[in-house]
Amino acid sequence: MIFIPHPYTLNDAHCFVAKCFGAPECTNFAIANESGVIGGIGLRRAEAGFQDVQKHVAEIGYWLAEEYWNRGITTEAVIAFTEWGFRTFGLRRIYAAVFARNTRSSRVLEKAGYEYEGRQRARYFRDGEFIDGLQYAKVHLAP
Ligand SMILES: CC(C)(COP(=O)(O)OP(=O)(O)OC[C@H]1O[C@@H](n2cnc3c(N)ncnc32)[C@H](O)[C@@H]1OP(=O)(O)O)[C@@H](O)C(=O)NCCC(=O)NCCS
Repeated sequence: MIFIPHPYTLNDAHCFVAKCFGAPECTNFAIANESGVIGGIGLRRAEAGFQDVQKHVAEIGYWLAEEYWNRGITTEAVIAFTEWGFRTFGLRRIYAAVFARNTRSSRVLEKAGYEYEGRQRARYFRDGEFIDGLQYAKVHLAP
């Protein structure tokens, strides 16, 4: 899972934006409408120098402001962004890991054509609780 601090402070947001501007490749984008930013979507690849056998792999993460939920916006963004990721970086595998109770996010991935790969027991720890993770991936091996 792409790490999102919780609770999320203004300083966290400033750090995130600064990191995006300083990054060697642009992999984080806003989801926006006519009123401005309503969400975000990004890819995280292994750090340069640590890619080795994982050059073709990236993790996808996303969020949307609650007032816009359940309109298919994130699904549309994930479909388009996944295709863009394969094309732009020559990726062959894009995966996502979600909290097991995050049924909305699982549904987004299923609708976007990601395959369920399995349950990782006690993958996360938050607020004194161990939480299972569900792994999803889309693999694109054709040239
Ligand atoms: C997960 C999230 C991005 C979904 O965004 P969204 O734009 O509402 O997603 P979509 O509208 O494309 O699809 C949502 C699906 O979840 C379903 N859904 C909504 N509430 C649900 C619930 N309580 N249980 C099960 N499914 C639910 C919707 O019905 C829809 O599926 P459908 O089209 O088959 O009806 C949004 O809820 C969010 O930002 N959550 C907080 C951040 C987060 O969890 N990010 C992902 C981390 S892995």
